[in-house]
Amino acid sequence: MSVLLCLRFNQEKFTMTMRAAVGLWVLSAVICVGRGHHHPDHLGHGNDKAGQDTVADGSANSVSLVNEANQEFSFRLYRQLAAHADSQGKNIFFSPASVSAALAALSVGAQGETHRQLFNGLGFNSSLLTQTDVDQAFQRFLQRANNTSQEDASEGTAVFVDNRFKPKPEFLQTLKQSYLADGFNVDFTKATESADTINKYVEEKTNGKIDKLVESLDESTVMYLISYIYYKGKWATPFDPKLTKQDDFNVDENTKLTHLPRTTCYRQAVLQLPFNSSYSMLLMLPDVMATLENRICPNHLTKWLKWMKPKRHDVYIPKFSIKTSYNLNDVLTEMGMTDMFGDRANLRGISEEQRLAVSDVVHKATLDVDETGATAAAATGIGITLMSFHRVPVLKFNRPFMVLITERNTEKILFLGKIINPTI
Ligand SMILES: *[C@@H]1O[C@H](CO)[C@@H](O)[C@H](O)[C@H]1NC(C)=O
Ligand SMILES: *[C@@H]1O[C@H](CO)[C@@H](O)[C@H](O)[C@H]1NC(C)=O
Ligand SMILES: *[C@@H]1O[C@H](CO)[C@@H](O)[C@H](O)[C@H]1NC(C)=O
Ligand SMILES: *[C@@H]1O[C@H](CO)[C@@H](O)[C@H](O)[C@H]1NC(C)=O
Repeated sequence: MSVLLCLRFNQEKFTMTMRAAVGLWVLSAVICVGRGHHHPDHLGHGNDKAGQDTVADGSANSVSLVNEANQEFSFRLYRQLAAHADSQGKNIFFSPASVSAALAALSVGAQGETHRQLFNGLGFNSSLLTQTDVDQAFQRFLQRANNTSQEDASEGTAVFVDNRFKPKPEFLQTLKQSYLADGFNVDFTKATESADTINKYVEEKTNGKIDKLVESLDESTVMYLISYIYYKGKWATPFDPKLTKQDDFNVDENTKLTHLPRTTCYRQAVLQLPFNSSYSMLLMLPDVMATLENRICPNHLTKWLKWMKPKRHDVYIPKFSIKTSYNLNDVLTEMGMTDMFGDRANLRGISEEQRLAVSDVVHKATLDVDETGATAAAATGIGITLMSFHRVPVLKFNRPFMVLITERNTEKILFLGKIINPTI
């Protein structure tokens, strides 16, 4: 059991806010997501959102298809991370938006089976969407993120290319145009220096939150793709620091928390904490964590955002700062994106002449929550290496060894010896 600081809404202030009745539900809202919760009528993977966009405008439709796929991908990736042995007993926190932007940018350069796996893995239906549709959708998302953002939110991508490597101009053009990528030339033979260059860029873009995305670089790296995201929000109604106090946080998920209402209809308490913007944080407190983790899907999000009504509660949430770090190679492989990592990788959309493969997909994230608001940042890095040097083990005969010369069919030994000093 660990001890955390807890926050509590100032009740008087809350009451006043309610009395002021601005017509907005400014504050805490705990809603009942009742029994009907997993009933098909409520939960079926209906197309509420797609429906709104099912107009003659095909591009609006593909944007909403990509958006839905990204939402589904978020929960699939979550489940995969949660299932991973090393996630047991660990916090999980990542940015689905950053991972999918990085992988979608990579898929621009993928072809054949590698592309099919990336497309499927990201949840894009190739009979409904082309790579160009996906690129245009990401362009919209990234522009929108950049438009609504002042200094408090930013999202983007970048590509670092080795001086001697010449990717196809169309690839770089699409990255710049659709993924709003910044482009840089680096010398990847200087592994430490180029890692520093990438890390400094990410550190600057995440306001210091992610300071070491790249720990080490494979020496055969020719290109490094990154995506970053940063969000800093102030609560629409801040917590009163005077009410912050030490309290127990029950790490054991079976422990019942008594200060949230429980009626038979509560499968989980869902709290929406709106920021002073169009963003909100949702906190979900389930009866059984595994049930929530297995069932959560984009429709829940829609329903929660739609159905929430303000109700008066004292709310306690922990004040905390966490950092996470993932190598996503295994997780993505388990999600069917296998070929990009090995000999079968087809990244001919990046280069025809050189055989390329993905060496690593890394992801780091941070989340800080306090009385005034929350700050979250994440970055994803994708290392792209020359396949011929891809993880080829090194074997150096730099100490005494035996030698033998033989004819293969007869196994006649022509020569046999031992080399102790090759210079005499
Ligand atoms: C892709 O879309 C087609 C046409 O709507 C549909 O028949 C098919 O089931 C979809 N595939 C997947 C995997 O959802
Ligand atoms: C971003 O803002 C510009 C002008 O301010 C506008 O023309 C454009 O449509 C906006 N893009 C999105 C995706 O909202
Ligand atoms: C976001 O907008 C700012 C100012 O409009 C611009 O300088 C910056 O390059 C944009 N970033 C991206 C990723 O497009
Ligand atoms: C929320 O934003 C508005 C204007 O953008 C500002 O007047 C108000 O003080 C902000 N509230 C908080 C709690 O930061």
